[in-house]
Amino acid sequence: MDNYIVSARKYRPSTFKSVVGQRSLTTTLKNAIASNKLAHAYLFCGPRGVGKTTCARIFAKTINCLSPAADGEACNACESCVAFNEQRSFNIHELDAASNNSVDDIRALIDQVRIPPQIGKYKVYIIDEVHMLSSAAFNAFLKTLEEPPHHAIFILATTEKHKILPTILSRCQIYDFSRISISDTVEHLQYVASQEGVTTEPEALNVLAQKADGGMRDALSIFDQVVSFTGGNVTYKAVIENLNVLDYEYYFKLTEAILANNVSDSLLILNDILNKGFDGHNIISGIASHFRDLLVCRDPQTAVLFEVGASIRERYVAMSQKCSNEFLYKAIEIVNECDLNYRNSKNKKLLIELTLIRLCQCSANPQSLDEKKKS
Ligand SMILES: Nc1ncnc2c1ncn2[C@@H]1O[C@H](COP(=O)(O)OP(=O)(O)OP(=O)(O)O)[C@@H](O)[C@H]1O
Ligand SMILES: [Mg+2]
Ligand SMILES: [Zn+2]
Repeated sequence: MDNYIVSARKYRPSTFKSVVGQRSLTTTLKNAIASNKLAHAYLFCGPRGVGKTTCARIFAKTINCLSPAADGEACNACESCVAFNEQRSFNIHELDAASNNSVDDIRALIDQVRIPPQIGKYKVYIIDEVHMLSSAAFNAFLKTLEEPPHHAIFILATTEKHKILPTILSRCQIYDFSRISISDTVEHLQYVASQEGVTTEPEALNVLAQKADGGMRDALSIFDQVVSFTGGNVTYKAVIENLNVLDYEYYFKLTEAILANNVSDSLLILNDILNKGFDGHNIISGIASHFRDLLVCRDPQTAVLFEVGASIRERYVAMSQKCSNEFLYKAIEIVNECDLNYRNSKNKKLLIELTLIRLCQCSANPQSLDEKKKS
């Protein structure tokens, strides 16, 4: 435990190709470096923990590399690369705009920018959370951003692009980082697990990736948490217990009951879930996602939208064959209605129960409800 480093730091990618899920963007950056067409200001935007700072650092290292590899990656062996990797390079400056957002902070930065680098060609200034700069600071910065010295490159990073002034946006090349897909996240977690000697079940990693909602830092933090909770054996059961996620088993049971028009069973299952301490609203959105997953499973064309792990895919496909499209359309509509009404409802449990009853009725004859509405 002496030198324990959290996975999110330990596994920060150090080459473009090891960055997960941002391929087109890293390719563009690499090409710009190879063809020597560098802009002087970039804006990296996108959700938390998807690789903005990471890519900015890789970019800074690569443009200063003295003998880049044929594929456009930094060599990781030259003097400049080694300095970067040991975090003692003077060619990269990171400024956190959240805590250094005054005009004076920016003036200090501008003074620094004038000084050329001693080794390497470029100095790179990464300004994180740039939307936090005060408007006076922004204004002080504009001139430098438009015409910086040749050796200076700015990389502005933000999670809130809409808060950036148009005058800044128009001076930058903009890169939108995307959320990382579930399958990419799972694959990366699998890699980290194998490096750490941790055993995992694919379903467990899947739940974890869903919980992380597209952020790799979050995924790795949750992973660390679960690893310490399970002592290195990351099973599906342990993960849902630790993360307080409802077992998909319940959704299958509920769907069975609904398809069999079995109102009593469906109410009992609901009661069971509520007694386990799960929140009603989560249950409802869980049911909605479950029906949605069944729907996309029915058509090979939309099956790519199905993001649950391969190991239970077959169960979904089998279950989806028991439902008609009409039933699923109607069912999703009913559940969605419940979702919308949930917040305002005085008797939330009754609302869910009513929804289950309607679902049971609609499985018998999906059309009947429409007719009832009309009459
Ligand atoms: N695309 C990715 N591929 C692999 N690992 C990633 C990726 N994105 C993030 N990570 C992991 O998450 C950690 C944090 O990433 P990074 O600092 O680049 O996020 P960020 O986009 O700058 O987030 P923030 O908006 O919070 O500053 C990295 O050290 C790395 O372990
Ligand atoms: Mg960052
Ligand atoms: Zn190098």
